Amino acid sequence: MIGTNVLRPGFVQLRVLELESALTHYRDRVGLTEVSRETDGRVYLKAYDEFDRHSIVLREADAPGMDFMGFKVINDVALSEYGVALRKRGLEVTEIDAGEQPGMGRRLAFVAPSGHRFDLYADIELSEYGPMVNNPDVWREDPRGMRAIRFDHCLLYGDEIDATKEIFIDVLGFRLSEIGYDPDGQKIINFLTCSNKAHDIAFVPYPEKNKFHHCAFLLEDWKDIGHAADLMSRYDVPVDIGPTRHGATRGYTIYFFDPSGNRNEVFAGSYTYYPDSPLRTWTGDELGKNIFYYEKELNERFLTVVT
Ligand SMILES: [Fe+2]
Repeated sequence: MIGTNVLRPGFVQLRVLELESALTHYRDRVGLTEVSRETDGRVYLKAYDEFDRHSIVLREADAPGMDFMGFKVINDVALSEYGVALRKRGLEVTEIDAGEQPGMGRRLAFVAPSGHRFDLYADIELSEYGPMVNNPDVWREDPRGMRAIRFDHCLLYGDEIDATKEIFIDVLGFRLSEIGYDPDGQKIINFLTCSNKAHDIAFVPYPEKNKFHHCAFLLEDWKDIGHAADLMSRYDVPVDIGPTRHGATRGYTIYFFDPSGNRNEVFAGSYTYYPDSPLRTWTGDELGKNIFYYEKELNERFLTVVT
């Protein structure tokens, strides 16, 4: 396949144990805007620099984790073509009606060998809270909380990662930007991109299917990472690690948890990827530096706590 018609990660639907505390976290701490609450209980939110109606969907449930992640594709023709190609690859593709999420067109859903469900869609309403386009100010309303610019990517844990990766590369046209090995020679870091970003989705092998490691929000710079860290201390948001920096992608980062135990990341920086960029590779003896560039060692929690 030459290139891709997948534009970006568009949304993620997360399960939370209790809606109100989750809202305090994502709206007041991370700084997302609450777009709507629907009669089925789901709450829709967006970051201030996103044009589309919503990017984060919260659903109250008995266990935390990710329901599914959505990728926006360039148009409805491309959407249909991806449906054909995924079926040809032997995957079951389910059609989700337009309006199942408010403001969104039809979606095609498939479950990857890793156990994760991914939805593709071409149409979603533009938000009335989106970035300005006429004589555009830097933002429409003052960014709040951690000042999240956009929902950026997810890192997912599961088995059959190679087969999953092949679907993203062969069928959806993603490219492998960066990989990393552990000291036993197992490939544990798999970063894939459909854009100029260092990664749009990442996979780590894990004995269980369909596990969620984190969803990430882009911040403007290292100063905003510091501001986010101040908010986490001020409001006792549980921190996993950071502020620090990744070797892989070079991003500045903090990992923390929502009140249900789902891990979030806020990050800034990282390199620009082009389709002709050579694959970046980390050997097992540099795993610590790969993940946490300053500490040069992993913390056990980062590797093992997933929802
Ligand atoms: Fe990340």
